[in-house]
Amino acid sequence: MNKWEKIMFREFLSVATLFGTGESTFFSHEPPPCRKVDIILRLSFFSSILPVTIELEQPPTKSVKMHVVYKDIEGDMAKKLEDLFGLASGGLIEVNPGKVLIPPKFKSYAQRIIDMEVRPDDVWLVSYPRTGSTWTQEMVWLIGNDLDFQGAKMLQQLRAPVLELTALLGNDTSGVIKLIGETVEIVESMPSPRFIKTHLPLELLPKQLDVVKPKIVYVCRNPKDMCVSYYHYCRLMHDLHGSFNDFCELFINDSVPMGPIWNHIMGFWNRRNDPNVLFLRYEELKKDLKSVVLRCAKFLNKELNEEEVQAVLHHLSFESMKNNPAVNLEPVLEYRKTALLNQMTEDKVTCLQAPSFIRKGVTGDWANHMNPEIAARFDEWIKTNLEGTGLNFQV
Ligand code: A3P
Repeated sequence: MNKWEKIMFREFLSVATLFGTGESTFFSHEPPPCRKVDIILRLSFFSSILPVTIELEQPPTKSVKMHVVYKDIEGDMAKKLEDLFGLASGGLIEVNPGKVLIPPKFKSYAQRIIDMEVRPDDVWLVSYPRTGSTWTQEMVWLIGNDLDFQGAKMLQQLRAPVLELTALLGNDTSGVIKLIGETVEIVESMPSPRFIKTHLPLELLPKQLDVVKPKIVYVCRNPKDMCVSYYHYCRLMHDLHGSFNDFCELFINDSVPMGPIWNHIMGFWNRRNDPNVLFLRYEELKKDLKSVVLRCAKFLNKELNEEEVQAVLHHLSFESMKNNPAVNLEPVLEYRKTALLNQMTEDKVTCLQAPSFIRKGVTGDWANHMNPEIAARFDEWIKTNLEGTGLNFQV
């Protein structure tokens, strides 16, 4: 920073402070270590925006050290989780902030993820599991990659890796982890533009998301349908062998793997008006996929003609997704089933009886699973948590 720039910088800050109404925003255009920043001072007194470009001596994107706290899960809840998921003691830990329940392997990645470099042209897909994230990711990837249908034949998992997947599969004995690789490392070394998927809540995501502000798509879903879908998924992928009612009990008590849903959703619902955030609901995609595709294209600064829109809609249809080995997880599941069968007896391999990954694809399937008492408890829980937020799942 030269002398003039230093003076201007100090002046702008003192004016902002003096009027008490100013707010300064720093954001970087380059990955750290970077020196060039734009400083925009919004002074409501002048009702104008004054942009200047100056050199700073310290990279402004350096993250403030955040402490991740790990806690053992104890008591009845630990016992219940161990019983239902056939876990060894300590198979899941609680990670805060966020109260995330995840295999202890996550300890080796948590801080690394928080400190991870974010790139301005990254596109992040954030969601709680079973909200239609594979579906949404396919839309985002395809539009973001100028409808590269040929490229979309590669496993979605490789084109748009789930950042924390290696940790999520920490208890899996089938060898899928070896097949997929170290996902944090893969994401770190991917060429730009990166398409990254994650189920982590905002608090455990890279601090630089707030500074670099890449495009972020968030998708959520009616919790009753999420719970049904997650139950089947846990049978398929995490050897859940408890009853559906047992699983509902865990879900409503924030105690399924990945932990509470409301904090997860609200972290992004509260940012839904940020220009770099596109907040979606599964129910919107179901009701009018075309308008979501058009919104998504606008968000990604892409133009689609009618023919292209139709091609995207066809690719994203339930039938097409269900039969598409790049997204239906069949290759991975087949590998997993075979490996587990070699280790266990058939009756212990729960994934053999579970429906497929892309399962039913409807709204309201909860009515086929929940008894009236459980449905009423969910309704009350949803009402309490949505009160005053403006969010709902009716479209
Ligand atoms: P169901 O289990 O209710 O069928 P995620 O990808 O986040 O794990 O979400 C999975 C859910 O999205 C599953 O819900 C799956 O069937 C649904 N899904 C995937 N592709 C879909 C599509 N093209 N149309 C509708 N639902 C779809």
